[in-house]
Amino acid sequence: MTEETGGVREKRLKILVVGSGAREHALAWKLAQSPGTAVVKVAPGNAGMEFETIPLAVTDQDGLIARARAEDMDLVVIGPEDPLAAGLADRMAAAGLKVFGPGAEAARLESSKAFSKRFMARHGVPTAAFRVFSSSTEALAYLEEKPEGPIVVKASGLAAGKGVIVAVDKAEAAGAVRAILEGGRFGEAGREVVIEDFIEGEEVSVLAFTDGRTLRPMPAVQDHKRLGEGDTGPNTGGMGAYCPVAVYTPQVAARVEETIFRPTLAGLAADGLDFRGCLYFGLILPDPDSAYDGPQVVEYNARFGDPETQVLMPLLKSDLADILLRCVEGRLAEAEVEWREESCACVVIASGGYPGEYRTGLVVTEKVPAPIGASLAFHAGTALNAARQVVTSGGRVMSITARALTLEKALARVYERVRTVQFEGAWYRRDIGYRELARQKPGPV
Ligand code: GLY
Repeated sequence: MTEETGGVREKRLKILVVGSGAREHALAWKLAQSPGTAVVKVAPGNAGMEFETIPLAVTDQDGLIARARAEDMDLVVIGPEDPLAAGLADRMAAAGLKVFGPGAEAARLESSKAFSKRFMARHGVPTAAFRVFSSSTEALAYLEEKPEGPIVVKASGLAAGKGVIVAVDKAEAAGAVRAILEGGRFGEAGREVVIEDFIEGEEVSVLAFTDGRTLRPMPAVQDHKRLGEGDTGPNTGGMGAYCPVAVYTPQVAARVEETIFRPTLAGLAADGLDFRGCLYFGLILPDPDSAYDGPQVVEYNARFGDPETQVLMPLLKSDLADILLRCVEGRLAEAEVEWREESCACVVIASGGYPGEYRTGLVVTEKVPAPIGASLAFHAGTALNAARQVVTSGGRVMSITARALTLEKALARVYERVRTVQFEGAWYRRDIGYRELARQKPGPV
């Protein structure tokens, strides 16, 4: 496989990215820029990717392994959580492939919220107080003991970002518990629920490259999970994001390093969890009057975030392929990881009706505004029809991304391009980055 001499890899890399979303498009786009990359292919990819796509589903483990071996891939990067939870990384590694992404056991940090909360409790990682239940009688009795007010109910398993209910009061929480544990709302993913305290504060996502021993955090990102403007309405897969985030100050970052990153890494080692991939820390910075002091972990994810990745990749100055390979090889400490001191923003264009029912097969047209290259379109739910036109095939259709010296300028570039993307029912949030823009405006005199 790959040889390295004096810091320069002798063989140019063949890289396979597994997944079909805008996150995988952004990763492939950045990997293709690495000087050591020979070729990037994506399985199954989508219609907007400027790379060879391989029509194999992320669930087709045998097919993916056979293809990666047949093509002598030097690195496989697994994007989504489902194949990680299903053990694709374990099987690929056993087949002799170098895989960026944890095996199924370490991926339980995301695929089982009960597992991840117990991991945090065991290793002293700050997080909201919680209990895990599989019996609705016991869960409802626990709710009775809690003071009235907002409380969080989570299906323990993977539920495509929809398994978290932030209930406004105990009655709504009890309804969620019944729907999950008695009504089977999330199927197997809802066999257990986690009930945890609600913490008022500001959420930020901090993703980190890790080889299990070294952790290299990326700049903090804020994503907009809610459907409606002003962060209202139901959760979605993410409607936009921006980076960096001013509330994640160097002081906060230092505290997160001390109280969250270090105990997490120590916990992985103590529990024998081999995590070589992207560890995503969903954090909350509690309001000053909160009972919680200092940053808390809301969740871990065992992969790159979406849409966080779409704003991080344009800001990464260093060689992504080299970083990921060093993670796999356990040599991340030697990697150069540098970031542009700019802002980046991303707006997701969605199908009408998303996250509920929506039509597919609608023709997508787009005019790229000048200057070419000032913005990027990372596709997600797109396919080619029989006439080889790009058509919609999913709820989140594409992520438009741009970077600039200020967030305001980055957003202007993004929205200029967003307005040129057309298909029937297309819609997007018009307020991405609003919190940060308000922070940047001078206060009243
Ligand atoms: N942006 C949230 C996630 O990737 O899970």
